[in-house]
Amino acid sequence: MPKTPTVYFNGRYLPKDEVRLSPDDRGFVLGDGVYEVIRTYDGQLFALEGHLERLRRGLRELAIEGVDVDGLGDVCRELLQRNGLGGGDASLYLQVTRGAAPRTHFFPDPPVPATVFVQGGRFSLKGDPAKGIHAITVPDIRWARCDIKTVQLLANCLANQRARSAGAQEALFVRDSAVLEGSYSSLFLVLEGEVRTAPKNNYILPSITRDIVLDLCRTSGVPARESPVFTHELPRATESFVAGTTVEVMPIARIDGVAVGDGVPGPVTRKLQKLFRDRTAGSRA
Ligand code: PDD
Repeated sequence: MPKTPTVYFNGRYLPKDEVRLSPDDRGFVLGDGVYEVIRTYDGQLFALEGHLERLRRGLRELAIEGVDVDGLGDVCRELLQRNGLGGGDASLYLQVTRGAAPRTHFFPDPPVPATVFVQGGRFSLKGDPAKGIHAITVPDIRWARCDIKTVQLLANCLANQRARSAGAQEALFVRDSAVLEGSYSSLFLVLEGEVRTAPKNNYILPSITRDIVLDLCRTSGVPARESPVFTHELPRATESFVAGTTVEVMPIARIDGVAVGDGVPGPVTRKLQKLFRDRTAGSRA
């Protein structure tokens, strides 16, 4: 029997099967909480501060108070060590909810302590970065605060399940004809040699990996613009890839069954894949 992993729950490290979550937890009942997924490469946390900053912002937006976000970096490191994840690649899942209180649509008054949970596990990339994945487009039925990384992911799950049923790995949300982002990743397309991705606003998640990719474009002279690609432009895209903590830089070979460009990772995507790998290797230094 594999050993039960050690997790962090409300200030304590304990075996995962000893976590007792209240059925009144507002994360469970109402989806009232936020989360983060953070990667390690060779045991080193990657882009930790960016993730913690986004978590702070999400908590502020939801007015969830009293969480020691600064201390979560050490919690992650401790979990890596306690679970033998100090080398190789791992991912950490952090979730904070408003806490346990009788079900009301207003916030508990007075506030209750937030629920804080962190767990870690071995990571392996799904999909072949040398071949790419298939994607479908789906109507964006999400709410108008996609910039908050809330645990309310039902629209994302419905979209991703639709992709899976169609033999694809990612679903790309389309709102008012703009192809915005994936169900668990941000989206990039290359048109006439220029990299394009939707601008940061309330309709997409401010993805950490997206920022890194844009920075890599800037510093390596790849033309890039934060402007959405519309569905009628898709046939002109010569390359496409998704980016995210759990997909890194992953080419999209086909969208809705149609090959993107030659249907194989193009030169811009391959260049950015290499630069991204170098950047993650930098996190080991
Ligand atoms: N998903 N867009 C959406 C809708 C996402 O859910 C994610 C991440 C991204 C990429 O963000 P980042 O680069 O910060 O990981 C974009 C996480 C990993 C998940 O839900 O598992």
